[in-house]
Amino acid sequence: MKNATTEPSKAEESQDRGAHSVTMPFGNEDVDALFDMSAPQPRYRELVERGGLVEVMPGCAFAFAAPLSEFVLKHHELFSSRVQMHLGNVRPLIPLNVDPPQHAQYRRLLDPIFSPRQMDRQEADISRRANQFIDLFIDRGTCNFTEEFAEVFPSSVFLGLIGLPEADLRTFLHMRDGILHPEKIDPEALVDVQRRTAVMNRAGEEIYSYFTALIKDRKRQPGNDIVSRLVRAEIDGGQLGTDEILDIMFLFVIAGLDTVSDSLTCFFAFLATHPDHRNQIVEDPTIIPAAVEELLRWESPVPSGAPRVATRGVTMPDGTEVAAGTAVIVSYGAANVDPSAHPDGFEVRFDRKVNRHVAFGAGVHRCLGSHLARRELRVTLREWHRRIPDYWLTPGHERLEFPPGLRHVKDLMISWA
Ligand code: HEM
Repeated sequence: MKNATTEPSKAEESQDRGAHSVTMPFGNEDVDALFDMSAPQPRYRELVERGGLVEVMPGCAFAFAAPLSEFVLKHHELFSSRVQMHLGNVRPLIPLNVDPPQHAQYRRLLDPIFSPRQMDRQEADISRRANQFIDLFIDRGTCNFTEEFAEVFPSSVFLGLIGLPEADLRTFLHMRDGILHPEKIDPEALVDVQRRTAVMNRAGEEIYSYFTALIKDRKRQPGNDIVSRLVRAEIDGGQLGTDEILDIMFLFVIAGLDTVSDSLTCFFAFLATHPDHRNQIVEDPTIIPAAVEELLRWESPVPSGAPRVATRGVTMPDGTEVAAGTAVIVSYGAANVDPSAHPDGFEVRFDRKVNRHVAFGAGVHRCLGSHLARRELRVTLREWHRRIPDYWLTPGHERLEFPPGLRHVKDLMISWA
C-alpha cells in the first residue's frame, strides 16, 4: 500500500480546501528514512516523539502518533478512503476505497466469508498445505524460506478458498508479482516509473481477465468457494455486478497474499535470531496465538495504510491543522511502538496479556482477512516448530535485506540440523 498515490475524487475536489496546512516539523532527509524498512522501530519512536504528524510533501502527511492515527482511522467522515490507488486497477478497490454507509453493506456480505468459524473449517486444509511445503525441503537441512515457503504457502491457501487447483499457483504468483513486485518481472521497473506502471497495468488486465472467466464459470457451475458465494450474494435485494466482484477479487489478490508472506519472513527472521523466544514456542505451543499478536505488533509487516483524504479542514486532537484535500497516511508501525499506547513497546514479550496493536488497522476498514491471516500464521508456527524446532540463519547469509514496500525479508536463508 506504500506505493499508492492519490488523486482526490470529483466530490473531494469540490470540497473547500480551507487555508489550514499540516505542521512540518523537520526536513526532507527524513522522507527517505521513512521507507527504510530494515530496523524501523527506533525511527518510528523518534517520529512519535517529534510530534507525530509529518507533511512529507505538500498535500501528503503521515500520522505516526497512536492517538492521531486512531483519530484518522475512526473518523471516516473527516478522512475519506475514496482515493484512486494506482495499482493496475481501473476502478476503486472494494471495500478499501469505499466509504460508509456503502462500505458497511460490503462488509456485511464479506465478513461471514472470513469469520473465525469459517477459518475453523479451513484449519485442516491450511495445515496440510503448510506441511506439504515443509516436506519439500526438510531433509535438505536448509531452505530459502522466503521463496520456498513464505511466498507460496498463502497463495496456495487462497487457491483452496476460491476452489482452484494447485496448478494455478504460478499464474497467481505472477499476477501478484506484477502488481506488488513489478521488478521481478521487469528489473528496469525498479528505477523506471513508466516501465513499472506498464508491468502493473498488464498484471491488472491479467487479474481482470482471469477473474472474469472464473466468475462466468462459477455462474454456470456454482460451488462452495468464495467466488461462487459472491456470485450468489445480494445487496438490497440485487445481485453483485461482475465489476463489483472483480473489484473485490482484485483487492484480495493485493491484500491477502503478500501480507501473510511478508509477515512470515519477518517472524522467522526474528525467531531465527532470538533463540529464547523460539524456545518459548517449542516448549509451550499454547503461547503461539499470543506470539503471533506480539510479532505482528513488533514487526508491523504492513507499515502504513491506504491514504485517507481530509474531506474538510480538520483540527487534530493535538491541535494541528490538516487542510482539506490533504492525503493522510497512517503509520501502523509507529502506533504499535508509541509509548503512550505501549509503555514497554520495545520489549518483545510473548506473555503480554493485553495487546491492542493496530497491525490490522482500525476503524471500519480494519482488515477483513485478519482471521485468515492469523490462522495461517498460527498454523505455520505450530507445524514448523513441531518439525523443525531448532534453526538459524544460514552461515554467509546473516545480513538480512529488507527492500522498500511492505516490511519483508528478501531471500531469508535458514538452516537446521
Ligand atoms: C498478516 C497479514 C495481514 C496484515 C498485516 C493485514 C493488514 C491490513 C491492514 C493494516 C488493513 C487496513 C488498511 C487501511 O485501513 O488502509 C487491511 C485491510 C484489508 N485486508 Fe488485510 N492484512 C493481512 C492479511 C489479509 C488477508 C489474508 C486478506 C484476505 C482476504 C486481507 C484482506 C484485507 C481487505 C479486503 C482489507 C480492506 C478492508 C476494508 O476496507 O474494509 N488481509 N489489512
